[in-house]
Amino acid sequence: MTGVVSVLFGREDIRQRIEELGRTITGDYQGRAPVLISVLKGGSMFLADLLREVRLPASIDYMALSRYGDAPESMGRVRIVKDLDADIGGRDVIVVEDIVDTGLTLTYLLSVLASRSPTSLEVCTLLDKSVRRITPLEIRYVGFDCPDLFVVGYGLDFEERYRNLPDILAVHDVQALSADPDLLLPYVTGELAVTDPTAAPSAGS
Ligand code: IMP
Ligand code: MG
Repeated sequence: MTGVVSVLFGREDIRQRIEELGRTITGDYQGRAPVLISVLKGGSMFLADLLREVRLPASIDYMALSRYGDAPESMGRVRIVKDLDADIGGRDVIVVEDIVDTGLTLTYLLSVLASRSPTSLEVCTLLDKSVRRITPLEIRYVGFDCPDLFVVGYGLDFEERYRNLPDILAVHDVQALSADPDLLLPYVTGELAVTDPTAAPSAGS
């Protein structure tokens, strides 16, 4: 299966970057109590790890969105499947995303949240596929800039699979994965390992 996937961002790189993001957010929001809002499901893992690096009286809330389809005419039209539990009026809001691609989903979400009069509204995304952006967006916190490749792992899925991979993998043969969506299962079970160039050398090597 060589060549189908490679490690794009290894678990240790992810952990370190989230620590840095948490430190930055902690500094930027001193004296405030931000609410971190995650968009289900992909962003939930990132939120869980980021939250533990934010040393503030922070709270969390979740929203679930569904796209009307990928047809161009549905341009960013999104339906709220699950709304927030709490009112964000007068709150400092940080939207936590796994990945921003075209930006259509986030543009819609930000317009909905802005209409509820938060004190501030910022975005923190782990991955930014900035080359794919259709709608210009101001993203305050970015983990990594992401090349124009399909990625899975650390919350990111292909047909609901592979969210539990601890590393973020780039899929180089999307056609092979579409033909067999279970193609990468050996990486989930541990039967196969993707070589992580950032991983520490194992003992004895
Ligand atoms: P956007 O509206 O095009 O920015 O859509 C962003 C959403 O598309 C993300 O929240 C992901 O669910 C999904 N997405 C975009 N790129 C990828 C990818 O490379 N892997 C997995 N999901 C992706
Ligand atoms: Mg998805």
